[in-house]
Amino acid sequence: MMTRRSSTQADARGFNRLAPVYDHLAMTVFGNSLRAAQRCFLHRVKPEADVLVVGGGSGWFLERLLEETSCRRVDTLDISAAMLSRSEDRLRRRNPEALARVRFLHGGVESLPRDAIYDVLCTHCFLDLFSDETLQSLVPRLRSHLRDGGLWYDSDFQIAPGTIRRPLTSILLGAMYAFFRTTCSIEATRLPQFDHAFSQAGMVDVEAATFYGGMVRARLLRAPDQYVSEPLDVSQGDTVTRRFEAIRSESDR
Ligand SMILES: C[S@@+](CC[C@H](N)C(=O)[O-])C[C@H]1O[C@@H](n2cnc3c(N)ncnc32)[C@H](O)[C@@H]1O
Repeated sequence: MMTRRSSTQADARGFNRLAPVYDHLAMTVFGNSLRAAQRCFLHRVKPEADVLVVGGGSGWFLERLLEETSCRRVDTLDISAAMLSRSEDRLRRRNPEALARVRFLHGGVESLPRDAIYDVLCTHCFLDLFSDETLQSLVPRLRSHLRDGGLWYDSDFQIAPGTIRRPLTSILLGAMYAFFRTTCSIEATRLPQFDHAFSQAGMVDVEAATFYGGMVRARLLRAPDQYVSEPLDVSQGDTVTRRFEAIRSESDR
């Protein structure tokens, strides 16, 4: 029987195959830049925070998160069983006491229980797997798991500014997308418009840092305190999110 993949499901088999070599590939091409981007805002994670890591891969970030912060609990979600198992093995070898604070969740974003709410959400080299169209629903969906006032720590690629860097990064990104489309059947063919998706979901930029000559960007965004997600234009099947300012009545003041 044919089953249709949801738009937010990349090919888990592709990432399973890639799992043993993924970190080596990333280090070979980008050196320490991706890791530096994934680490630079860890000091912003407050003690006792509940954290969700989406598409955490083989677990380098998870290990750092548990080592460098006093977060209370981490759920790490990945569609690739091989990535998750490497992540768990890594933690078992290097910081076994931390295992009690972690749940390894196998599945896509859709599999998260609707009422799972976190203080911090982390997406590293994850959102770039999706098309603009998918991000329009994926980012609000993820946002709905973040408590009001919570932080979203994202790092990903961007086209570096500058007359020389811009074409060079475009070529490198083109090669990366060709590779990931072939090996993992990812949906995206080019970098999606992260800024647009985040602002549509009402997320507010707090801090940003760039690495690898501007091609890698880490950013910290905050979910505003008042947020309502409502379906718009149901006939098109789209979901658009809007932020509503708190309106306090005279009697509340
Ligand atoms: C490009 S890798 C990045 C891994 C890691 N964050 C890093 O930077 O090293 C993307 C990861 O997202 C996972 N993934 C892809 N689609 C997913 C989905 N819909 N839900 C959860 N994880 C997904 C893949 O299995 C893979 O581990």
